[in-house]
Amino acid sequence: MNRQVKKAVLPVAGLGTRVLPAGKTTPKNLLNVVDRPILSYIVEEARAAGIEHLVFIVGRGQAAIEDYFDAIPEIEQALAAKGKIDILEDLRRDLPEPGQMSFIRQMAPLGLGHAVWCARHVVGDEPFAVMLPDMLMQADPPALVQAVEAYEKTGGNVVVVEPAPEGEAHKYGIVALEGRDGRLNRMVGMVEKPPPGTEPSNLFISGRYILQPEIFRILETQERGAGGEIQLTDGMVNLMKTQPFHALEYEGTTYDCGDKIGLLRANVAFALARPDLGDAARKAIGELL
Ligand code: UTP
Repeated sequence: MNRQVKKAVLPVAGLGTRVLPAGKTTPKNLLNVVDRPILSYIVEEARAAGIEHLVFIVGRGQAAIEDYFDAIPEIEQALAAKGKIDILEDLRRDLPEPGQMSFIRQMAPLGLGHAVWCARHVVGDEPFAVMLPDMLMQADPPALVQAVEAYEKTGGNVVVVEPAPEGEAHKYGIVALEGRDGRLNRMVGMVEKPPPGTEPSNLFISGRYILQPEIFRILETQERGAGGEIQLTDGMVNLMKTQPFHALEYEGTTYDCGDKIGLLRANVAFALARPDLGDAARKAIGELL
């Protein structure tokens, strides 16, 4: 039986230049989608997939993330005293059990591979998930649940992928498959931003991974790659020499909330999908159009 995935690493230490100035004083993953920060949805997805411990890789100026996932007694007491129980319950919905979250400083944004490597002591010698919180996925079952189900079938390493928009594959990390039959296929390679026309497939790596702990030893000594950053993709290509990787084309829609229009789209899509707000959102959007 495959070893269970109980920990998820959430790298949030990037500079977030594409959503400035909004992200200047608010960590970009705390920007809101409807009425919750992006991270609230990601943590909910992780919990649905059976994750018991979340490891955030943070940078300077991101202490608000820790505060968001902590209790806030003065507000909670005020809500209880006023009988605003539904708001209180909604507020508490995001809270972990004490001890279920760790926060690690990356100290310098040297790249996603470096950010993941920073989690090595907390993850230890077990398979783990990586979730890029910028990539907000609307899916049922949630994207990481689909990834864990795939991992239970294949073992090894699993990378969640999806088709790139027509003609845009060269902008992404793209996977190469052994063959394409259904949604779960063995991978034979990966390439970051392939020159147009050389893409090995149209499937890009969309921000959820299940990795084996051997990746840490590879990242430890890895040279800087594209953009002068320590790339997770390069580390995975190396690990693929000794371990199987499968690509899962998940069922759902991804919103890149690290991008202004992506964040706007996520707000519209999540508002429309909300049982309590969908009708009002549809009306408001209709009026604007
Ligand atoms: P991105 O490159 O999409 O995010 O990294 P960024 O660097 O924050 O954004 P832009 O391009 O400047 O707008 C993907 C994920 O990896 C994290 C980011 O926070 C994001 O969640 N990351 C990236 C780190 O945690 N550390 C790094 O050194 C680089």
